Amino acid sequence: MRIDIITVLPELLKSPFEASILKRAIEANLVEVHFHNLRDYTTDKYKSVDDYQFGGGAGMVMMVEPIDKCITKLQSQRNYDEIIYMTPDGETLNQGIANQLSLHKNMIILCGHYKGVDQRVRDKFITKEISIGDYVLSGGELGAAVLCDAVIRLIPGVLGNETSALTDSFQDNLLAPPIYTRPREYKGMKVPEILFSGNFPKIEKWREEQAYKRTQERRPDLLKD
Ligand code: ADE
Repeated sequence: MRIDIITVLPELLKSPFEASILKRAIEANLVEVHFHNLRDYTTDKYKSVDDYQFGGGAGMVMMVEPIDKCITKLQSQRNYDEIIYMTPDGETLNQGIANQLSLHKNMIILCGHYKGVDQRVRDKFITKEISIGDYVLSGGELGAAVLCDAVIRLIPGVLGNETSALTDSFQDNLLAPPIYTRPREYKGMKVPEILFSGNFPKIEKWREEQAYKRTQERRPDLLKD
């Protein structure tokens, strides 16, 4: 997979890709991530990427021209399966969307800033608009990092254990069950006996029951789907 991220703040975005699973995925050539500074696609000496809103109103708007130039250049080099715009008014990210995106070959992610982008960018280029939740961030960069993390860990080979993404919370619309490690008892708190039974079908059944119970208590909305 190749991901091209268009941003006015590449320095804000880089560190999540420089540690742990994402770093290893890049080193193993399972994913390529490229950052494009929108200011490199401006023509004026101030490298402006935004301007006042037509019709008045607070907040600047990201201009169409630098974004057009950047996306058009990328599209001349390869085909993109999806051109995603990070925005609080997009579709809320969930595991299903991450699963779908993990199957793609090439994606562009455009990070919004200020009040957002000129609507003509959305009309002409954007194929998917994603929000990471019902709150407003200062820009799309942190959202893009969240999206990339959720997607990249699903690419086959990225996680050490092939099955481990399948047992994550949400993969089957259930939250994950409780998990334990050593010691067996800590300050009087004991690990459930069933986990030492060696009876794996029984352990699996217990985990499913716990996952269901937790989902019912915390996220009953997930069980309605
Ligand atoms: N940009 C600003 N707020 C955002 C959000 N909640 N999700 C994605 N991008 C954003």
